[in-house]
Amino acid sequence: MSEVRIPLAGVIGHPVAHSKSPALHAYWLKTYGIRGHYIPMDVEEADLKAALKALPKLGFVGVNVTIPHKERVLGLADLITDRAALIGAANTLIFRPDGKIHADNTDGYGFTENLRQNAPEWVPSSGPAAVLGAGGGSRAGVAALLEGGVPELRLANRTRPRAEALRADFGPRVTVWDWPSAGAMLEGAKLVVNTTSIGMAGTEDEGQLRISLDAIGPGTVVTDIVYTPLITPLLAAARERGCHIVDGLGMLMHQAVPGFERWFGQRPVVDAATRAAILGLP
Ligand code: ATR
Repeated sequence: MSEVRIPLAGVIGHPVAHSKSPALHAYWLKTYGIRGHYIPMDVEEADLKAALKALPKLGFVGVNVTIPHKERVLGLADLITDRAALIGAANTLIFRPDGKIHADNTDGYGFTENLRQNAPEWVPSSGPAAVLGAGGGSRAGVAALLEGGVPELRLANRTRPRAEALRADFGPRVTVWDWPSAGAMLEGAKLVVNTTSIGMAGTEDEGQLRISLDAIGPGTVVTDIVYTPLITPLLAAARERGCHIVDGLGMLMHQAVPGFERWFGQRPVVDAATRAAILGLP
């Protein structure tokens, strides 16, 4: 008699203890009555290759990948989606029955679904988007915004060449602005996005956004991919100005949807109860 294998998934990072993904997936597994497990795994860079080789044999159907392994896993995957290749990083791996590792990036999907759910009045074609930062999070957001049809994407990064590299990769709808005068690119923007770590609790940059928000119009949608704290200094200042703010927790929840569906066979819904569950609210 062959036993049914209980599907296992998890998140690989270093460190990984802070990740909210295990609580999120545990909540969905319980909600949908699925027999499966989702485990945080702290894997050092030197062990990444061996870990990815062993996991499918241990019953894993896939994993999420987080800092610092998102770029490196591309070199260890057998198949890479176009969007993961364009972004240059993967956050979701599927271990296929034929032994091949399939790498995808769902961060951009999470980014736009969060906006779709929490700022339904905004559509990408509404007008220019202004993006602060040019790291991995930015690349995922920029890819999704351009794919969604944003007519113009203004980009500023402290280290200007990184922003120029994005322009080279993503094309002429991207315009590069100087970091010290990034406030100017907010004029007429329908969406403002922070992808820098400025405002993240526990970093040296906590609360240090020195960009003038004077040019932001009321009603502009302002979002932050940082979600610790939920209301970052940028979001607080934008709210004060009458902007529609969207915090970054929604992106985290939505980027997890495609992986959960592939691994466990059920498309989960992101709702208020999901949010409460990962915030540890009753
Ligand atoms: P991620 O992959 O999470 O986006 P990252 O690649 O390390 O992380 O990118 C972090 C982003 O925050 C970058 O845009 C970085 O700017 P630089 O490219 O100039 O390093 C930005 N950032 C971090 N600290 C900053 C600060 N104090 N002021 C301005 N930008 C900052």
